[in-house]
Amino acid sequence: MAQTRPAAAVPTSFDDLSIDELRRRSSDKWRKYPADVLPAFVAEMDFALAPPVAAALRQAVGRSDTGYASPSDDLSRALATFAAQRFQWQLDPAGVVLIPDVMVGITEVLRVATAPDDGVVINPPVYPPFYTHIAEAGCRVVEAPLVNGSDGYELDLAALERAFQDGARVYLFCNPHNPTGRVFRRAEMERIAELAATYDVLVLSDEIHAPLALPGAQHVPFLSLGRRAADRTIAFVSATKGWNIPGLKCAQAVVGSDRMRAVVQRLPEELIARVGNLGVIASTAAYRDGVTWLDDLLLVLDRNRRLMGELLMEQLPAIRYQPPQGTYLAWLDCRVLNLPREPVEFFLEHGRVALGPGPKFGSSGAGFVRMTMGTSAGILREIVERMSAAVPRPA
Ligand SMILES: Cc1ncc(COP(=O)(O)O)c(C=O)c1O
Repeated sequence: MAQTRPAAAVPTSFDDLSIDELRRRSSDKWRKYPADVLPAFVAEMDFALAPPVAAALRQAVGRSDTGYASPSDDLSRALATFAAQRFQWQLDPAGVVLIPDVMVGITEVLRVATAPDDGVVINPPVYPPFYTHIAEAGCRVVEAPLVNGSDGYELDLAALERAFQDGARVYLFCNPHNPTGRVFRRAEMERIAELAATYDVLVLSDEIHAPLALPGAQHVPFLSLGRRAADRTIAFVSATKGWNIPGLKCAQAVVGSDRMRAVVQRLPEELIARVGNLGVIASTAAYRDGVTWLDDLLLVLDRNRRLMGELLMEQLPAIRYQPPQGTYLAWLDCRVLNLPREPVEFFLEHGRVALGPGPKFGSSGAGFVRMTMGTSAGILREIVERMSAAVPRPA
């Protein structure tokens, strides 16, 4: 799956991270646990900001540009250019709506586009807030779990069709998929678009990880599938994962048809006031000037997913791991270890490593943990070493 690249091509500057420096950060990742715990639980990277993003933020601070956000043609145009070059997706900048973050956008769209108790289909194991935010919007979660195919996790298109047949009104599609790292193929997505049209289902396509499609995988934006898809799809995109700026609070909902434009026009007007202006500035710089940095990052993440496989093979060969096709997330099947408790609790207590709890991703996540690999080779090594040292060995 992954293209082989010469090791020399991986930029070494990304490995220049010091845990002491990282601990000076005040974000949740570095404050949630005591100082002896290595955090790898949240979908956040440890690398220094992309230089163009850092420069744009410094300039904004220099001119005290810290007021409320305003709708931004610059951002819409920068996103459109990025999408065209990266994904061959011709999006209309006029169809871009700023939202504070992807989950707020999804929740607010559900509020205006559904009736109480409408079914929303998701594909577990999946990003845990999908469960809570669907409930928060007054809707009902309908599960169409991923299945294990010969090539790792696959969509169960028959289960999806049954869910639509049974009356679900919305499909919350996660692509690239968190936590499995699947980047879905065009043929699978065309079938989804066909099913959604047949059963008149609204598709909310969460593409927050799209910039992180790794070598060997090509992200296909749902809205690039054509008119039929555009008539019933709202895409949610963001620079926050690719360039690691989630705390700056800016994401984008994108529509490509009058029908969907009518839906986003009903979103609360005050949504823009909850968007971070520094997020708008940083996202514009990321899409416009941050592509070289992103390409370097992808080389590092590609290296990391392979390194992860090697480290596990050496130290914890019982853990099952399928390198992700996109994102920096490792979804680790620890069931064969037969640990005395859920792995997330075990590795926190005995390894002092904080991971994402598998069961929160759906019932099929019991016995799994999610680990963030967006860090240096040295820190990745230390995480796996700590996990390995924690596992009891036969006497
Ligand atoms: C698939 C997916 N959707 C949404 C989010 C949350 O994004 P935001 O902070 O923009 O709500 C994440 C964060 O990890 C995610 O992985």
